[in-house]
Amino acid sequence: MKILVTGGTGYIGSHTTAELLKKGYDVVVVDNLNNSEEWILDRIEQVAGSRPYFSEIDCCNLSDLKKLFLLHSDIKAVIHFAAHKAVGESVSNPLGYYKNNLLSLVNILECMQETKVANIVFSSSCTVYGEPQYLPVDENHPVQKATSPYGNTKQICEQILQDAVASSNLKGIALRYFNPVGAHETALLGELPRGVPNNLVPFITQTAIGKRKELSIYGNDYDTPDGTCIRDYIHVVDLADAHVVAIERLLKNNNKTAYEVFNIGTGTGNSVLEAVNAFEKVSGQKLNYKFVPRRDGDITKVYADTTLANNELGWKAKHTLEEALASSWKWEKQLSSKK
Ligand code: UFG
Repeated sequence: MKILVTGGTGYIGSHTTAELLKKGYDVVVVDNLNNSEEWILDRIEQVAGSRPYFSEIDCCNLSDLKKLFLLHSDIKAVIHFAAHKAVGESVSNPLGYYKNNLLSLVNILECMQETKVANIVFSSSCTVYGEPQYLPVDENHPVQKATSPYGNTKQICEQILQDAVASSNLKGIALRYFNPVGAHETALLGELPRGVPNNLVPFITQTAIGKRKELSIYGNDYDTPDGTCIRDYIHVVDLADAHVVAIERLLKNNNKTAYEVFNIGTGTGNSVLEAVNAFEKVSGQKLNYKFVPRRDGDITKVYADTTLANNELGWKAKHTLEEALASSWKWEKQLSSKK
């Protein structure tokens, strides 16, 4: 059974590709390597024991994509990860974000319709909920006006997918991820931020290894027990697992409706300070940090109600935050030992 994974050399895509290969699926990876490296394919092979097909294609290029679908005419399902994902960059380059994130999905859906590929899992984000009106956030929580072009692309893409499903034989699942963290237990796969990381965990590990002087914690005056923001940190391997389960739900026609949405998180909220303390505990490293003013656009607290994913997908996060942070640290040390 052949599955197309767009963005398959990226952070979540590489872990998902490895899990699919381990389960015996054939995987076709397409990636423009805009924010990833080709050697990740070797690592996927080391982890999974087999290698995905690879095409260096930009999903915005419809004719390249059409050729790929013709070449692999036995593709049964698509997992669409390929997208730009930096909130701040999307504010300074909104058109680049709209063009890339929307066009790539539209192109994928067009190719799927033309070649009668019926199943797609889409990477969405808890960012669609905005500042939650209640916690934990379930899938019925209203989607609120996006605070960044990036967030808006996720909302619009969900809408595009829903409309495409409604007008065809397509079946789609949007997975709304909370905060992906961690790395593969082998330290062969992990997050590879280009330049200065935007996200908390790579900034923590790069500070601990000495690549960054200190971590700035954005705000300690939030309405939370320790004043720092609260997030639901989900191990990337658990997240990869959720994709396998979701794609199998579609392939086996176990979906209840043609378009479904699931929260993918742990269900537990942790503050930035709790994450820092947990990192210090598992790594044995004292972390240099200081408090700085709030970052524009940050949500105070958000964590998932995962009941639907637990009951319907039969999926549940298995890893703790400490395990995730320990794996990120192992990955960071492995990266720096290679240089
Ligand atoms: N943080 C710091 N210092 C840093 C980086 C982050 O204090 O150097 C804090 C943030 O203020 C926030 C928490 O750590 O409170 C998590 O921040 P991240 O940047 O790691 O993650 P976000 O929650 O801001 O963003 C993530 C995804 C986005 C997605 C968003 C949805 O990266 O793609 O969740 O809420 F849109």
